[in-house]
Amino acid sequence: MSETNTKIGLGLAALGRPEYINIRNNNAIDKSKNAFKQNTFSVLDEAYKLGVRYFDTAPSYGKGEAFLQEWQDSKLHDDTILGTKWGYTYVANWELGYAGKHEIKEHSIEKLIEQWQISKALLPNLKYYQVHSATFESGILENEEVLNQLRQIKKETGLKIGITTSGANQKDVIASALNINIKGDALFDSFQVTYNMFEQDTFEVLKTALKNGKHVIIKEALANGRIFPNKNFKHYSKTYQVLENLAKKYQVGTDAIALRFVMDNLKPTYVLSGASDINQLKSNMKAFKFKLSEEEINVLKTICILPQTYWEERSKLRWN
Ligand SMILES: NC(=O)c1ccc[n+]([C@@H]2O[C@H](COP(=O)([O-])OP(=O)(O)OC[C@H]3O[C@@H](n4cnc5c(N)ncnc54)[C@H](OP(=O)(O)O)[C@@H]3O)[C@@H](O)[C@H]2O)c1
Repeated sequence: MSETNTKIGLGLAALGRPEYINIRNNNAIDKSKNAFKQNTFSVLDEAYKLGVRYFDTAPSYGKGEAFLQEWQDSKLHDDTILGTKWGYTYVANWELGYAGKHEIKEHSIEKLIEQWQISKALLPNLKYYQVHSATFESGILENEEVLNQLRQIKKETGLKIGITTSGANQKDVIASALNINIKGDALFDSFQVTYNMFEQDTFEVLKTALKNGKHVIIKEALANGRIFPNKNFKHYSKTYQVLENLAKKYQVGTDAIALRFVMDNLKPTYVLSGASDINQLKSNMKAFKFKLSEEEINVLKTICILPQTYWEERSKLRWN
Protein backbone atom coordinates (compact mmCIF):
# COMPACT_ATOMS: atom_id res chain seq x y z
CA MET A 1 0.00 0.00 0.00
CA SER A 2 2.72 2.47 0.88
CA GLU A 3 4.99 4.16 -1.68
CA THR A 4 8.01 3.64 0.55
CA ASN A 5 9.85 0.36 0.70
CA THR A 6 10.41 0.53 4.43
CA LYS A 7 9.73 -2.85 5.99
CA ILE A 8 8.99 -3.58 9.62
CA GLY A 9 11.51 -5.84 11.35
CA LEU A 10 11.18 -7.39 14.80
CA GLY A 11 13.73 -6.74 17.57
CA LEU A 12 14.19 -9.25 20.39
CA ALA A 13 15.40 -6.87 23.12
CA ALA A 14 12.17 -7.21 25.12
CA LEU A 15 11.66 -10.91 24.30
CA GLY A 16 14.88 -12.65 25.34
CA ARG A 17 15.36 -11.44 28.91
CA PRO A 18 13.03 -10.82 31.82
CA GLU A 19 13.92 -7.19 32.45
CA TYR A 20 14.34 -4.30 30.04
CA ILE A 21 13.29 -0.67 29.82
CA ASN A 22 9.68 -0.80 30.86
CA ILE A 23 7.67 2.35 31.21
CA ARG A 24 4.28 0.84 31.86
CA ASN A 25 3.78 -1.40 34.85
CA ASN A 26 3.29 -4.93 33.59
CA ASN A 27 5.08 -6.90 36.25
CA ALA A 28 2.24 -9.39 36.42
CA ILE A 29 3.63 -11.52 33.58
CA ASP A 30 5.30 -14.91 34.09
CA LYS A 31 9.03 -14.21 33.98
CA SER A 32 10.27 -17.79 33.82
CA LYS A 33 12.61 -18.75 30.96
CA ASN A 34 10.03 -21.20 29.72
CA ALA A 35 7.27 -18.60 29.54
CA PHE A 36 9.61 -16.18 27.77
CA LYS A 37 10.57 -18.81 25.24
CA GLN A 38 6.95 -19.67 24.51
CA ASN A 39 6.05 -16.01 24.17
CA THR A 40 9.05 -15.34 21.90
CA PHE A 41 8.18 -18.25 19.61
CA SER A 42 4.57 -17.10 19.36
CA VAL A 43 5.63 -13.52 18.55
CA LEU A 44 8.15 -14.78 15.96
CA ASP A 45 5.49 -17.03 14.36
CA GLU A 46 2.94 -14.25 14.27
CA ALA A 47 5.48 -11.81 12.86
CA TYR A 48 6.41 -14.23 10.09
CA LYS A 49 2.73 -14.80 9.35
CA LEU A 50 2.21 -11.04 9.07
CA GLY A 51 5.08 -10.71 6.58
CA VAL A 52 7.97 -9.72 8.85
CA ARG A 53 11.26 -11.15 7.56
CA TYR A 54 13.97 -9.18 9.38
CA PHE A 55 14.72 -10.26 12.95
CA ASP A 56 17.20 -8.36 15.11
CA THR A 57 18.98 -9.72 18.17
CA ALA A 58 22.20 -9.48 20.20
CA PRO A 59 24.18 -11.57 22.71
CA SER A 60 23.15 -9.11 25.42
CA TYR A 61 19.42 -9.78 24.89
CA GLY A 62 19.64 -12.71 27.33
CA LYS A 63 18.29 -15.71 25.44
CA GLY A 64 17.53 -13.53 22.38
CA GLU A 65 20.09 -15.15 20.08
CA ALA A 66 19.42 -18.68 21.33
CA PHE A 67 15.62 -18.32 20.97
CA LEU A 68 15.98 -16.90 17.46
CA GLN A 69 18.36 -19.66 16.45
CA GLU A 70 16.12 -22.41 17.84
CA TRP A 71 13.09 -20.91 16.11
CA GLN A 72 14.94 -20.58 12.81
CA ASP A 73 16.31 -24.14 13.05
CA SER A 74 12.87 -25.55 13.81
CA LYS A 75 10.99 -23.65 11.09
CA LEU A 76 13.68 -23.67 8.42
CA HIS A 77 12.28 -20.54 6.76
CA ASP A 78 14.59 -19.83 3.85
CA ASP A 79 13.55 -16.20 3.49
CA THR A 80 14.25 -14.79 6.95
CA ILE A 81 16.93 -12.13 7.31
CA LEU A 82 18.69 -12.18 10.65
CA GLY A 83 20.82 -9.54 12.30
CA THR A 84 22.89 -9.72 15.44
CA LYS A 85 25.57 -7.69 17.18
CA TRP A 86 28.71 -8.04 19.23
CA GLY A 87 30.21 -5.95 22.00
CA TYR A 88 27.88 -6.32 25.00
CA THR A 89 27.66 -9.27 27.37
CA TYR A 90 24.49 -10.10 29.31
CA VAL A 91 25.43 -10.46 32.97
CA ALA A 92 22.11 -10.24 34.86
CA ASN A 93 21.76 -14.01 34.48
CA TRP A 94 17.92 -13.89 34.57
CA GLU A 95 18.07 -12.54 38.14
CA LEU A 96 14.89 -10.52 38.75
CA GLY A 97 15.53 -7.11 40.27
CA TYR A 98 19.22 -7.33 39.33
CA ALA A 99 20.72 -4.16 40.78
CA GLY A 100 23.75 -3.62 38.53
CA LYS A 101 24.05 -2.98 34.81
CA HIS A 102 22.43 -5.88 32.98
CA GLU A 103 24.86 -5.72 30.07
CA ILE A 104 28.56 -4.89 30.00
CA LYS A 105 30.20 -3.25 27.02
CA GLU A 106 33.55 -4.39 25.62
CA HIS A 107 34.70 -3.58 22.11
CA SER A 108 37.92 -5.60 22.19
CA ILE A 109 39.25 -8.04 19.59
CA GLU A 110 38.87 -10.84 22.17
CA LYS A 111 35.14 -10.07 22.65
CA LEU A 112 34.58 -9.93 18.89
CA ILE A 113 36.26 -13.31 18.36
CA GLU A 114 34.44 -14.86 21.34
CA GLN A 115 30.96 -13.65 20.35
CA TRP A 116 31.42 -14.31 16.63
CA GLN A 117 32.14 -18.00 17.40
CA ILE A 118 28.59 -18.25 18.80
CA SER A 119 26.74 -15.86 16.50
CA LYS A 120 28.04 -17.41 13.29
CA ALA A 121 25.75 -20.37 13.97
CA LEU A 122 22.96 -18.05 12.71
CA LEU A 123 24.42 -18.32 9.19
CA PRO A 124 23.26 -18.67 6.42
CA ASN A 125 20.21 -16.51 7.24
CA LEU A 126 22.39 -14.10 9.19
CA LYS A 127 22.83 -11.02 6.98
CA TYR A 128 23.73 -8.15 9.33
CA TYR A 129 26.58 -8.19 11.86
CA GLN A 130 26.73 -4.99 13.89
CA VAL A 131 28.99 -3.34 16.42
CA HIS A 132 26.65 -2.95 19.39
CA SER A 133 26.54 0.74 20.31
CA ALA A 134 29.62 2.18 18.66
CA THR A 135 30.94 5.27 20.42
CA PHE A 136 34.09 7.37 20.19
CA GLU A 137 34.85 6.47 23.82
CA SER A 138 34.93 2.70 23.21
CA GLY A 139 37.70 3.19 20.66
CA ILE A 140 36.06 0.79 18.19
CA LEU A 141 36.25 3.17 15.23
CA GLU A 142 40.02 3.48 15.64
CA ASN A 143 40.84 -0.11 16.60
CA GLU A 144 42.57 -1.42 13.48
CA GLU A 145 42.74 -5.00 14.73
CA VAL A 146 38.96 -5.06 15.26
CA LEU A 147 38.19 -3.26 11.99
CA ASN A 148 40.41 -5.69 10.05
CA GLN A 149 38.73 -8.66 11.72
CA LEU A 150 35.31 -7.29 10.74
CA ARG A 151 36.57 -6.90 7.18
CA GLN A 152 37.77 -10.51 7.26
CA ILE A 153 34.34 -11.71 8.46
CA LYS A 154 32.72 -9.68 5.69
CA LYS A 155 35.01 -11.20 3.05
CA GLU A 156 34.42 -14.74 4.28
CA THR A 157 30.64 -14.54 4.74
CA GLY A 158 29.30 -11.69 2.61
CA LEU A 159 27.60 -10.23 5.70
CA LYS A 160 26.67 -6.58 5.87
CA ILE A 161 28.85 -5.11 8.59
CA GLY A 162 27.17 -2.39 10.59
CA ILE A 163 27.18 -0.24 13.67
CA THR A 164 24.38 0.60 16.05
CA THR A 165 24.35 3.97 17.76
CA SER A 166 22.82 5.56 20.85
CA GLY A 167 23.41 8.91 22.50
CA ALA A 168 23.37 12.61 21.77
CA ASN A 169 26.19 12.41 19.20
CA GLN A 170 24.78 9.60 17.03
CA LYS A 171 25.15 11.68 13.88
CA ASP A 172 28.86 12.32 14.50
CA VAL A 173 29.53 8.63 15.15
CA ILE A 174 27.67 7.68 11.95
CA ALA A 175 29.53 10.30 9.90
CA SER A 176 32.82 9.03 11.25
CA ALA A 177 31.97 5.37 10.53
CA LEU A 178 30.91 6.26 6.99
CA ASN A 179 34.48 7.45 6.38
CA ILE A 180 36.18 4.22 7.42
CA ASN A 181 37.78 2.54 4.42
CA ILE A 182 40.08 -0.45 4.39
CA LYS A 183 42.16 -0.94 1.27
CA GLY A 184 39.86 1.45 -0.58
CA ASP A 185 36.58 -0.24 0.45
CA ALA A 186 34.07 1.24 2.85
CA LEU A 187 33.78 -1.15 5.82
CA PHE A 188 30.33 -0.32 7.13
CA ASP A 189 27.21 -1.15 5.11
CA SER A 190 24.46 -0.72 7.69
CA PHE A 191 23.46 1.66 10.46
CA GLN A 192 21.01 0.83 13.26
CA VAL A 193 20.02 4.10 14.82
CA THR A 194 17.53 5.59 17.25
CA TYR A 195 15.19 7.86 15.32
CA ASN A 196 11.67 8.85 16.30
CA MET A 197 9.51 11.94 16.48
CA PHE A 198 11.31 13.18 19.62
CA GLU A 199 14.85 12.40 18.38
CA GLN A 200 15.29 13.45 14.73
CA ASP A 201 18.88 14.62 14.92
CA THR A 202 20.23 11.99 12.48
CA PHE A 203 17.82 12.78 9.64
CA GLU A 204 20.37 14.36 7.26
CA VAL A 205 23.20 11.90 7.81
CA LEU A 206 20.85 8.93 7.40
CA LYS A 207 19.34 10.38 4.22
CA THR A 208 22.86 10.70 2.81
CA ALA A 209 23.71 7.15 3.87
CA LEU A 210 20.54 5.82 2.20
CA LYS A 211 21.31 7.77 -0.96
CA ASN A 212 24.75 6.12 -1.01
CA GLY A 213 23.24 2.63 -0.85
CA LYS A 214 23.72 1.99 2.88
CA HIS A 215 21.06 0.11 4.82
CA VAL A 216 19.38 1.97 7.66
CA ILE A 217 17.56 0.12 10.44
CA ILE A 218 15.61 2.28 12.87
CA LYS A 219 15.30 1.25 16.51
CA GLU A 220 13.37 2.83 19.38
CA ALA A 221 10.77 4.28 16.99
CA LEU A 222 8.36 4.41 19.96
CA ALA A 223 10.92 6.18 22.16
CA ASN A 224 10.88 3.10 24.44
CA GLY A 225 7.16 3.59 25.01
CA ARG A 226 7.30 7.33 25.73
CA ILE A 227 4.98 8.00 22.76
CA PHE A 228 2.09 6.50 24.74
CA PRO A 229 0.13 8.84 27.04
CA ASN A 230 1.81 8.61 30.43
CA LYS A 231 1.31 10.80 33.47
CA ASN A 232 5.03 10.64 34.27
CA PHE A 233 5.79 12.53 31.06
CA LYS A 234 3.48 15.53 31.43
CA HIS A 235 5.75 17.65 29.23
CA TYR A 236 4.61 15.56 26.26
CA SER A 237 0.90 16.15 26.84
CA LYS A 238 0.53 18.34 23.74
CA THR A 239 2.26 15.66 21.68
CA TYR A 240 -0.02 13.00 23.13
CA GLN A 241 -3.02 15.04 21.99
CA VAL A 242 -1.67 15.31 18.43
CA LEU A 243 -0.92 11.57 18.35
CA GLU A 244 -4.30 10.64 19.73
CA ASN A 245 -6.07 12.74 17.10
CA LEU A 246 -4.11 11.01 14.34
CA ALA A 247 -4.68 7.59 15.88
CA LYS A 248 -8.42 8.30 15.95
CA LYS A 249 -8.40 9.49 12.36
CA TYR A 250 -6.61 6.37 11.06
CA GLN A 251 -8.28 3.95 13.53
CA VAL A 252 -4.95 2.68 14.85
CA GLY A 253 -2.88 3.06 18.03
CA THR A 254 -0.35 5.82 18.62
CA ASP A 255 2.36 3.18 18.10
CA ALA A 256 1.31 2.81 14.45
CA ILE A 257 1.41 6.60 14.03
CA ALA A 258 4.96 6.74 15.47
CA LEU A 259 6.17 3.91 13.23
CA ARG A 260 4.46 5.46 10.21
CA PHE A 261 6.17 8.78 10.90
CA VAL A 262 9.55 7.04 10.57
CA MET A 263 8.45 5.23 7.42
CA ASP A 264 7.01 8.30 5.70
CA ASN A 265 9.58 10.87 6.78
CA LEU A 266 12.91 9.05 6.78
CA LYS A 267 12.04 6.03 4.61
CA PRO A 268 14.68 3.73 6.11
CA THR A 269 15.35 0.14 4.98
CA TYR A 270 13.72 -1.24 8.13
CA VAL A 271 12.01 0.12 11.19
CA LEU A 272 12.01 -2.24 14.16
CA SER A 273 9.02 -3.24 16.18
CA GLY A 274 10.10 -3.87 19.77
CA ALA A 275 6.83 -5.64 20.60
CA SER A 276 6.89 -7.72 23.75
CA ASP A 277 3.78 -9.74 22.88
CA ILE A 278 1.49 -10.62 19.98
CA ASN A 279 -1.02 -7.87 20.71
CA GLN A 280 1.65 -5.17 20.59
CA LEU A 281 3.00 -6.66 17.38
CA LYS A 282 -0.41 -6.68 15.70
CA SER A 283 -0.96 -3.09 16.77
CA ASN A 284 2.51 -2.06 15.47
CA MET A 285 1.85 -3.76 12.13
CA LYS A 286 -1.14 -1.49 11.57
CA ALA A 287 1.44 1.07 10.43
CA PHE A 288 1.03 -0.59 7.01
CA LYS A 289 -2.66 0.34 6.87
CA PHE A 290 -2.31 4.03 6.05
CA LYS A 291 0.03 6.81 5.07
CA LEU A 292 0.47 10.20 6.75
CA SER A 293 -0.14 13.34 4.71
CA GLU A 294 2.66 15.83 4.13
CA GLU A 295 0.94 18.27 6.45
CA GLU A 296 0.74 15.65 9.22
CA ILE A 297 4.40 14.74 8.75
CA ASN A 298 5.28 18.42 9.05
CA VAL A 299 3.40 18.69 12.33
CA LEU A 300 5.19 15.62 13.72
CA LYS A 301 8.54 17.02 12.59
CA THR A 302 8.05 19.94 14.99
CA ILE A 303 7.73 17.59 17.98
CA CYS A 304 11.46 16.83 18.20
CA ILE A 305 13.44 17.86 21.25
CA LEU A 306 17.17 18.48 21.69
CA PRO A 307 19.19 15.25 21.49
CA GLN A 308 20.87 16.05 24.83
CA THR A 309 17.45 16.35 26.50
CA TYR A 310 16.20 13.18 24.81
CA TRP A 311 19.15 11.04 25.89
CA GLU A 312 19.25 12.47 29.39
CA GLU A 313 15.63 11.42 29.85
CA ARG A 314 16.28 8.01 28.28
CA SER A 315 19.19 7.37 30.65
CA LYS A 316 16.77 7.74 33.57
CA LEU A 317 14.25 5.13 32.31
CA ARG A 318 14.10 2.17 34.62
CA TRP A 319 14.70 -1.49 33.71
CA ASN A 320 12.17 -3.79 35.36
N1 LIG B 1 21.92 -0.31 20.83
C1 LIG B 1 21.14 -1.05 20.11
O1 LIG B 1 21.59 -1.65 19.19
C2 LIG B 1 19.67 -1.13 20.42
C3 LIG B 1 19.11 -0.40 21.48
C4 LIG B 1 17.75 -0.46 21.68
C5 LIG B 1 16.96 -1.22 20.83
N2 LIG B 1 17.51 -1.94 19.80
C6 LIG B 1 16.69 -2.78 18.88
O2 LIG B 1 15.51 -2.09 18.51
C7 LIG B 1 14.35 -2.86 18.87
C8 LIG B 1 13.21 -1.90 19.23
O3 LIG B 1 13.63 -1.00 20.25
P1 LIG B 1 13.00 -0.91 21.70
O4 LIG B 1 12.11 -2.06 21.91
O5 LIG B 1 14.10 -0.69 22.66
O6 LIG B 1 12.19 0.44 21.68
P2 LIG B 1 10.77 0.88 21.12
O7 LIG B 1 10.45 0.15 19.87
O8 LIG B 1 10.81 2.35 21.08
O9 LIG B 1 9.76 0.48 22.30
C9 LIG B 1 9.26 -0.81 22.43
C10 LIG B 1 8.38 -0.89 23.65
O10 LIG B 1 7.20 -0.14 23.45
C11 LIG B 1 6.12 -0.80 24.09
N3 LIG B 1 5.10 -1.10 23.07
C12 LIG B 1 5.24 -1.49 21.79
N4 LIG B 1 4.06 -1.63 21.17
C13 LIG B 1 3.12 -1.32 22.09
C14 LIG B 1 1.72 -1.27 22.07
N5 LIG B 1 1.01 -1.53 20.98
N6 LIG B 1 1.07 -0.92 23.22
C15 LIG B 1 1.77 -0.63 24.34
N7 LIG B 1 3.11 -0.66 24.42
C16 LIG B 1 3.78 -1.00 23.31
C17 LIG B 1 6.65 -2.07 24.72
O11 LIG B 1 6.96 -1.80 26.08
P3 LIG B 1 6.62 -2.85 27.26
O12 LIG B 1 7.45 -4.06 26.97
O13 LIG B 1 7.01 -2.11 28.47
O14 LIG B 1 5.16 -3.15 27.15
C18 LIG B 1 7.92 -2.31 23.92
O15 LIG B 1 8.89 -3.06 24.64
C19 LIG B 1 14.84 -3.77 19.99
O16 LIG B 1 14.07 -4.92 20.13
C20 LIG B 1 16.24 -4.07 19.52
O17 LIG B 1 16.23 -5.10 18.55
C21 LIG B 1 18.86 -1.88 19.60
